[in-house]
This record gives sequence, C-alpha cells and structure tokens, in this order.
Amino acid sequence: MSDNMILIDEKGTLIVPDYPEIPFIEGDGIGHDIWKAAQPVFDKAVEKAYNGTKKIKWLEIFAGEKGLKKTGKRLSDEALDIIENHRVAIKGPLTTPVGKGARSLNVRIRQNLDLYACIRPVKYFSPVPSPVKHPERVNITVFRENTEDLYSGIEWDSMSDCAKQVLGFLSDEMDVELPNTCSLGIKPISPEKTKRLVLKALEYAVNNSLKYVTIMHKGNIMKFTEGDFRKWAYEVARDKFKGKIITEKELHENHGGKLPHGMVLLRDRIADMVFAEVLLRPEEFDVIAATNLNGDYISDALAAQVGGLGIAPGANVGDRCAVFEATHGTAPDIAGKDMANPCSIILSGAMMLDHIGWDKAADLVRKGVEKAFNSGMATPDLAKEMENVTQVTCSEFGRVIADNI
Ligand code: NAI
Repeated sequence: MSDNMILIDEKGTLIVPDYPEIPFIEGDGIGHDIWKAAQPVFDKAVEKAYNGTKKIKWLEIFAGEKGLKKTGKRLSDEALDIIENHRVAIKGPLTTPVGKGARSLNVRIRQNLDLYACIRPVKYFSPVPSPVKHPERVNITVFRENTEDLYSGIEWDSMSDCAKQVLGFLSDEMDVELPNTCSLGIKPISPEKTKRLVLKALEYAVNNSLKYVTIMHKGNIMKFTEGDFRKWAYEVARDKFKGKIITEKELHENHGGKLPHGMVLLRDRIADMVFAEVLLRPEEFDVIAATNLNGDYISDALAAQVGGLGIAPGANVGDRCAVFEATHGTAPDIAGKDMANPCSIILSGAMMLDHIGWDKAADLVRKGVEKAFNSGMATPDLAKEMENVTQVTCSEFGRVIADNI
C-alpha cells in the first residue's frame, strides 16, 4: 500500500496524507470538458490554502465510453476496487446505454460500494437566474436514502410469469385482489438502512450548528414503509442525540415554542407539504432526510429553485468510501463543444475537500465560484437567461474561477 493512500481508522475517521492519491472518472459526454475545467480549480485551491504543503495526486479510472475503449468494460470490478481502496473518488456523468437489461453504471457504483447517503446541498449563487423571488433564502442539504425503497429494482412487468405468480400469491394467501394485468414493484424500507441515513443527517446538522432537520415522508398513506421511516428517524434522535436534538412536541411542551440555543429541532412533514413549504418558507429548512424516491424529487426541485442542475453538487457516501459527482447527465447535445457549465463538478469537488478535512481549500473553491458569477460571466446555459452578462466557454469559466482563488 502506498504512502499516498487515504486510510480509515476504527472509528471511521479518515487519515489523510499531505499528498493523497484520489481517483477520478472523467465521465462521458461533457465529462471531458467539465473535468478539464475543474481539476486546475482544485489544484489551485489546495496550493493556495496550504502554501504548497499539500497536493492531490490524481489517478484516472477508466469507465464509461473511455473504459470500453481502454479496458473493454464500461465499469470493471477493478475500477470499483480502486475507489473502495482509496476511500474517496470524484466522477463526471456516465451514460446509461439504452436497451433492455442495461443497468445504470451510477446505480452499480452506489450499490456495489454501499454508498447509502446521497447528499445534495442546494444553495443559491447570485446572480444566477431563478424562477423564484428569493432564491437566496434557500440553503438546504438533502440526505436521500440511496439503497432501498422503490428503487431497489424488485419489479415485475404486466402479464409476466413472475407478476402472475405474485398476483396469485396475493390473491390466495393474502386476500388481496388486483387486476391480473398489473405491473408490480416492491417498496422495501428497513430500520437499519433508515437509521444509518438519518444518523448521517443528524450528525451533519449537529456538527454544523444548524437549526432544523425535517423528515420528509408519506406516512399518512404508506403507513408501514414511509410511516416507519418517520418512526425510526425519531428513534435515532432519541437514542443517539440526547441533549442535542429536540422534537416539535418537546419544543412546545417544555420550551414554550422557543428553540433553545445550540439545539437542533427535529420535525416531520408530509412529502407534498415539503414541496409547498420549501417554496414559501425555505429559511425554515436546513436539512431534509428522505426516502429514496421522495429525496430524488425534492433534490431536483430544490436545484431548479436556485437556478438549475448545472450547478448543484452531490455526494454518495457510505461507511467504506464516498464518491462525489456532478448531478447532471452527459448532456450529449453539447458534448465536446466547450459549452457546459462546470460548476456542478467543481462544487462537488469542494464537498470532497470538506470530506477529507481540507475545508480551507473547499471554501476557496466555493468563493472562487461565487466571484466568477459576480464578475458578470456565465456559460451559455445560464447566459441565455441573464442580462448584462458575458458568455464564456466551459474552459474560460473554469479559468476565471481558478484565477479568483
Ligand atoms: P442531462 O443532464 O445530460 O441533460 C439535460 C439537459 O440539461 C440537456 O439539455 C443538457 O444540455 C443540459 N445540461 C446538463 N448538464 C449541463 C451542464 N453541466 N451545463 C450545461 N447544460 C447542461 O440529462 P439527460 O439528457 O436525461 O441524460 C443524458 C445521459 O446522461 C443519459 O445517458 C443518462 O443516463 C445520463 N445521466 C447520468 C447521470 C450521472 O452520471 N450521474 C445523471 C443523469 C443522467
């Protein structure tokens, strides 16, 4: 094992050398463009933050189209091993080939490495055009469960043999009658997987001195899946965060409705209300913990609220390793044209720097992006909706960010 490997101790804390080797997957489509713009930004931020005493040694992993060309596979087992052994990796978007049986590479990475928490911080960057009046009030981090729920892939097509068998079982054994043409899917939600996700969300809120954690669920209708997600979330707070987190009931019964200084308020909201409330009172949301499907919807809706997917970063985090990734796809319509917005991967990189404890460098990256937007420049996706702005290419925007650091 090389001296440049990030290690993990028995408590799960990362041990990061000054010259860590970090794998990256460039990605398909616009992946090459955005990575070329992003890597110099990370290098500059690290150099500036630590006066040249730290530096990332980038290690390319071939996946997607590049993987197919170089190794004959879109995603090899070796590639997954490299990510797991290095504890941390960053990736651009990967194409999901269209056709029966083709599994998304992104889903394979998340499932094989058990990256159970999809973390999506959503924050506004002025003057990015937004469809709402006060996008600056949004500063919300979504913790979405990444491994179960209706996304588990346990589904049977209408009229298939399996669907007929399951329908027969439901009718004969469970007294449930459904149309015999139904397609079916299973929605597993377990206490173990709920609790490890909610634990991460609560730890994040406590460690960052935030005020509100909201459990988003549809437990009024799906009582034993979504309803149990809610119940188990409260159990984690009760069992692991005594004296740090209070519920709405405790807030009103014991504190006259006033949140005691330094405490986190844990509450729950029905999923449809969350969509309404994040538009009406976004400042009352710091962290949202959600099941897989609800989390998918709310994170993209929030990203749209602050001006789109091209800038929203994301991380998929497990106990063994974490993969930071651009949240958009491969954008084949603009691939190779140097037109993409590189901010999603750049801000995902800032999350990665935070994750390895290099928060000074992470702050420099975020400030660099902020300054670039404030200097009146934007890539074509945003420039077309803005006034008095200079349209720049993906590589130029990356250079501006790096120069701002
Ligand atoms: P997409 O996100 O690639 O594109 C949707 C629209 O947004 C397009 O008009 C595109 O030009 C634009 N867009 C996306 N990212 C942009 C950026 N950074 N800058 C400027 N414009 C941007 O979604 P689509 O078309 O549904 O998917 C294309 C491919 O990407 C598919 O193969 C899909 O499976 C894959 N994909 C991969 C993801 C990942 O690797 N995490 C996530 C989503 C999709």
